[in-house]
Amino acid sequence: MDNTGVILCQDFQNELSEAVNLCAPDVLFVLTDENTKALCLPLLQGMEIMVKAHLITIGAGDVNKNLETLTNVWQALSDGGATRHSLMICLGGGMVTDLGGFAASTFKRGIKYINIPTTLLAMVDAAVGGKTAINFNGLKNEIGVFQPAFRVLLETDFLRTLDEHNLYSGYAEMLKHGLISNFETLNQLLAFDTADIDYALLKQLVGQSVSVKEDIVQKDPKEQGIRKALNLGHTVGHAFESLALSQQRPILHGYAVAWGLVCELYLSHVNVHFPKEVMRKVIHFIHENYGTFVFTCDDYPQLYKFMQHDKKNVGGVINFTLLNDVGEVRLNQTASQSLIYETLDFYRECMGI
Ligand code: GLY
Repeated sequence: MDNTGVILCQDFQNELSEAVNLCAPDVLFVLTDENTKALCLPLLQGMEIMVKAHLITIGAGDVNKNLETLTNVWQALSDGGATRHSLMICLGGGMVTDLGGFAASTFKRGIKYINIPTTLLAMVDAAVGGKTAINFNGLKNEIGVFQPAFRVLLETDFLRTLDEHNLYSGYAEMLKHGLISNFETLNQLLAFDTADIDYALLKQLVGQSVSVKEDIVQKDPKEQGIRKALNLGHTVGHAFESLALSQQRPILHGYAVAWGLVCELYLSHVNVHFPKEVMRKVIHFIHENYGTFVFTCDDYPQLYKFMQHDKKNVGGVINFTLLNDVGEVRLNQTASQSLIYETLDFYRECMGI
């Protein structure tokens, strides 16, 4: 284990038992959603710690990441006799770890929680770094706190049954981590054969990817500065995600980030001289593996509006994280409306639409 409590599991049940026993909780709760209850909970069955555990199950999907579900979790903690010395295990994707982490961090002013992410996106991003939240008023992750999990257990065997789209979705955040770290990591990620997955290698890449995020979070846990590096690809990515949702054709978060990276690497090239060849290589990988998010120039004003409402902006100015080279991050960059439109033209041209 590293000093931020993330464990790349070698012996999942033993490592989980050790983490729980270290907490010595008076009552143990296990939070799952309907899917992870059926598909992932069996990996915990038969463990001594599970004998007296209280199971809490919530509906799956982002639509349930709301105040009502949160209230149900608080209620279940209360009904189960949770005290400040209780512990909650959050077993699931980012929705479960975000909502569960928030429920735990606020119940009786905070009980400890352990994240066991079951999707690639949650392993390399959502479950690591202490961001917890629910959606509110139609806004994603509007209410939450920064409160790190006591431990995060990365059991990459869960990935063997993850569908291809969710695997690619998480992989986009890994590409982002490669871009903000170094050439070696990025090149390894670009060379990975996504059509014939080597799970042992994937585990190694997950470990590397998470350590990129942890290093940054350790330096800036509350996103005052360098943690904004993790927003690369997300300003345009979130706009794509919102446009897709408003047109009733939702896309997975990681796909939006991958397509957002195409645009933000172009902006990086134009604004701060990110090398063209590296940009081309990354765009080629994204085009091959993620296909294309299709939109027309009639969508530009709406995309621009979504960027203007991004919660990372300060004083209404659109905020980008850009790169002047691999591993060389430039925070708090901005771009004019005409350059953003030019970027969307570039995206459509190089993605063949
Ligand atoms: N997902 C970006 C962060 O945790 O800061």
